[in-house]
Amino acid sequence: MTHAIAPADFDSTLAAQRAVSRLSVTRLTLTNFRNYAHARLEPGLAPVVLTGANGAGKTNVLEALSFLSPGSGLRRARLGDISRRDLGDVLGCPWAVAAIVDDGQVPVQLGTGLENLHASKRQVHVDGMAERALASLSQHFAAHWLTPQMDRLFLDGSQERRRFLDRLVFSFDPAHAGRITAYTHAMRERAKLLGEGKFDDAWLSALEDTMATRGMAVAAARLDVAQRLAAVCENMVGPFPASRLVIDGLAEQGLTHRPALEVEDQLRSALKTSRARDAEAGCVGGGIKGRLPHQSDLLVTHAVKDMEAEQCSTGEQKMLLVGLVLAAAGLSARDEGRMPVLLLDEVAAHLDVKHREALFAQVVNLGCQTWFTGTDAGLFASLKGRAQFYEVDAGSVVQVD
Ligand SMILES: Nc1ncnc2c1ncn2[C@@H]1O[C@H](COP(=O)(O)OP(=O)(O)OP(=O)(O)O)[C@@H](O)[C@H]1O
Ligand SMILES: [Mg+2]
Repeated sequence: MTHAIAPADFDSTLAAQRAVSRLSVTRLTLTNFRNYAHARLEPGLAPVVLTGANGAGKTNVLEALSFLSPGSGLRRARLGDISRRDLGDVLGCPWAVAAIVDDGQVPVQLGTGLENLHASKRQVHVDGMAERALASLSQHFAAHWLTPQMDRLFLDGSQERRRFLDRLVFSFDPAHAGRITAYTHAMRERAKLLGEGKFDDAWLSALEDTMATRGMAVAAARLDVAQRLAAVCENMVGPFPASRLVIDGLAEQGLTHRPALEVEDQLRSALKTSRARDAEAGCVGGGIKGRLPHQSDLLVTHAVKDMEAEQCSTGEQKMLLVGLVLAAAGLSARDEGRMPVLLLDEVAAHLDVKHREALFAQVVNLGCQTWFTGTDAGLFASLKGRAQFYEVDAGSVVQVD
């Protein structure tokens, strides 16, 4: 059952619940970043429109922005591939992204990049001070994004949907990354032992205990965000369809109707009983009925049509994704009091005129700094006077009226 409220009500409800600070990148500087030797943009809070030919460097700008949050960016690229290379130049120069992020109160300077071409980790600076953990970025910046690669999210295997969900969870709960790392590390150690035929019960039990406790924490965080997101979806208006979300996972499903400790024990004993089968099959949880936390899937249903997302049309799937991203922004505003930045790569071109205009109206109304890209500037004509336009051409970005 969906309850529609007017967009203005949605916004004022958020504002009434808590003063919402709107994040915006007011200066972005790229150095040796992919096809940019040097580029600088100084936008305001209004939507930013980047247009230019294929290969001009539009997505690269969004990727640079995505590096202002923890993680491996919207392309999940290898860090070394980002450093700018000239023709015939094999190594390139180490890349850097610097930004001023304004939350309407105190602007903060964020910087990230590689110290040298062989660095395996990117550096992070906040107001000129080096930070040890990437996670510290999430105190100052948050972004949600949609890319053309995500168009197959509902059609391909569960891995991408799980990543999509986990990225949403990270944005609300930065500790989520550490839980997944601990779970995955224990899982790999266990697989290695089993692969080598080392059935050391104490050792395996310790690893399975880590998998069970960390896996439960992962599942609980996913469930929490999915439930809160679904609640925001229910109150969304406009033409972007609300989604119903279900997580298909042993722990996530168990947690919805049983005490956490009971589900954790179930995971532990399931892992123990599947040792022989896992050793034989060379996989994890092969003999377990249900999906372990590293196999969980996010099932999305078009709420109004009561139709699984994968059965919806290509355009409807795109609209479901846009709806989810808008809901995620609404959730950040509602629960964290901050409106994140949205990075919408090639989204406008895939929407019909009614939905495109509705999206423009919605981001302007929500007041979130939204970065749009497209090859056709005409698609954004109706944003004139409400957005900032940049032309991107072979590694240069120029603001146009
Ligand atoms: N490390 C690098 N050094 C130099 N150039 C790079 C590097 N990595 C990627 N590029 C180039 O950056 C260019 C711009 O890429 P980008 O994906 O941003 O283009 P785009 O404007 O989004 O194009 P499209 O409209 O096709 O999506 C590409 O031509 C690509 O080859
Ligand atoms: Mg692109």
